[in-house]
Amino acid sequence: MIEQINLLKDEINNLTAESAQDAENLRIKYLGKKGVITALFNDFKALDGEEKRTLGKPLNELKTLATEKITLLKESASMKPDESILAIDLTRTAAPMPLGTRHPLTIVRNEITSIFSRLGYTIAEGPEIEDDWHVFSALNFAEDHPARDMQDTFFISRGPDVLLRTHTSSVQTRVMEHSQPPIRIICPGRVYRNEAISARAHCFFHQVEALYVAENVSFADLRQTLMYFAQEMFGPETKIRLRPSYFPFTEPSAEMDISCNLCGGKGCSFCKHTGWVEILGCGMVDPNVLDACGIDSKKYSGFALGMGVERITNLKYQVKDLRMFSENDKRFLEEFTSAH
Ligand code: DAH
Repeated sequence: MIEQINLLKDEINNLTAESAQDAENLRIKYLGKKGVITALFNDFKALDGEEKRTLGKPLNELKTLATEKITLLKESASMKPDESILAIDLTRTAAPMPLGTRHPLTIVRNEITSIFSRLGYTIAEGPEIEDDWHVFSALNFAEDHPARDMQDTFFISRGPDVLLRTHTSSVQTRVMEHSQPPIRIICPGRVYRNEAISARAHCFFHQVEALYVAENVSFADLRQTLMYFAQEMFGPETKIRLRPSYFPFTEPSAEMDISCNLCGGKGCSFCKHTGWVEILGCGMVDPNVLDACGIDSKKYSGFALGMGVERITNLKYQVKDLRMFSENDKRFLEEFTSAH
């Protein structure tokens, strides 16, 4: 029996276990009810006194050795990291976080307002749901005057006097009603018109309006402001041209063209071979408008200008179809990641 005990000691010293389950199987094999060591203890009972005396100690040592070894194997098996953790590459750099991008119209609107803020203009905002007075009447659109048809209006069924603003010139009215010159404001915002949606027209779009009212404001001031804006927005080579036009709220009124920023004025399909593209309307504030808003038109004069943000964005980024701006197609929006 002593040989068997010594063999088992060697065997047990060399045991290994891959998992806690392996270790448990070993426990059953050696120390379980029908285990090898348990069997030796049964045999031991049948031995005579002399044999018992010589074999008792080594047999107990064998049992202690087996118990300790198997417990140790169990512990180290349960401490082994699980395979799925080993599969993670801890040296890999963190994945880049996908950041959202600004909408192209927001980028351009911010650029416009920042150019005007450098000239001392502050931002003014007003409601999109308006009334006739602020959108039309105060701005010198006579009732039943065909000029009202220039802007197809959405009326809200609550009454003929509730409508969606057709231009941000309504914010001019609101500011002039509540403040006295000098007034120098820029009014960005969304406007609505009852138009069929196509590549070139939409039922809502965005405008930025600027208004300057003070003593002795002249057309020369307007022209200089326009020039500064155009060159800041489209580059120092940009030329401007003013054409006479008509708006009820300005007198005289003009439309401004810039030299085509694609061909530099030589003529291309974008500018229909004229070398010029139209970008905004402007003029000297009609004295009737100043008076309607409680500003003394004998003492003060002013100029106003208004532009479409989509139009300016098209010029800067050649977006061919207006509908792209409101479709929220990520592929389109992500093209503007690097622009501010
Ligand atoms: N409100 C005009 C429009 O929506 C744009 C405009 C033209 C604004 C001339 C102005 C201006 O302030 O002076 O068509």
